[in-house]
Amino acid sequence: MKRLSTLLILASAAFLASCNADKTTPGYTYMDDMYTSPSLETYEPAYQFANGLSAQLPVEGTVPRGYHPYEFANSNEGYEAARTTLSMPAEFDAALKDGKELYNIFCVHCHGEKGDGNGPLVMQEKILGVPSYAASRLPDITTGSMYHVIMHGKGIMGSHASQLTYDERWKIIRYVVKLREDQE
Ligand code: HEC
Repeated sequence: MKRLSTLLILASAAFLASCNADKTTPGYTYMDDMYTSPSLETYEPAYQFANGLSAQLPVEGTVPRGYHPYEFANSNEGYEAARTTLSMPAEFDAALKDGKELYNIFCVHCHGEKGDGNGPLVMQEKILGVPSYAASRLPDITTGSMYHVIMHGKGIMGSHASQLTYDERWKIIRYVVKLREDQE
C-alpha cells in the first residue's frame, strides 16, 4: 500500500511538472527532437545564411519551369524587332478551338467576335480606337508583333502578359490569324 501511494505521488508530481503557466510553450517535453522540428520555418531568422533569413531567393538567373523569357523591350524598336524576327511556332497551327475560347474571354469585349473592332465595349462607346484585324486596316502586323502587343500592350490596350501563359498567347494569336483571314 505504501509503495502504491509513493508511486501515485511520483506520478502526479511528474504530471504536474509537465504543466506550464506559459500556454505558448509545451512545458517539459521528453524526446525533444520529436516535438521540435529541426527544419527552419519560412521567414524565421537563420544564422546559417549570410543575410540571416531562412527564406532565400532563388539563384540569380533562375527560370521557373515552363517560363519563357521575352527579350523584346517595350518600345517602338522592340515592337519592330518582334514584328520582323518573331513568329508563331508551328506547333500552334492546330490550336484553333482553344484559341477561340481564350479570345472570347480576353479579347472579344474590345475586338468583337469577328475581330472587326466592334466589341461590346466599343458599341457602348466605353472604349474607342479598336482597329479591325483586317489586312486592309492593319497590313503590317505579324504573329510576332501580335505576341509583342499581348506582352506589352499598345496605346490604350493594356498588357495581357500576366493573364495568359506562353501557350495561351500563341493559341489566341492563331485564332486572330483566322479572324484576320475571315475579314478579307
Ligand atoms: C480594353 C480593350 C482591349 C482588349 C481587352 C484587347 N485589345 Fe487589342 N487593341 C485595343 C486597342 C484600343 C488597340 C489599338 C492600339 C493602338 O494601335 O493604339 C488594339 C490593338 C490590337 C492589335 C493590333 C496591334 C498593332 O500592332 O497595331 C492586336 C493584334 C490586338 N489588339 C490583339 C489583342 C488580343 C489578342 C487581345 C486579347 C488577348 C486584345 N487585343 C485585347 C484594345 C483592346
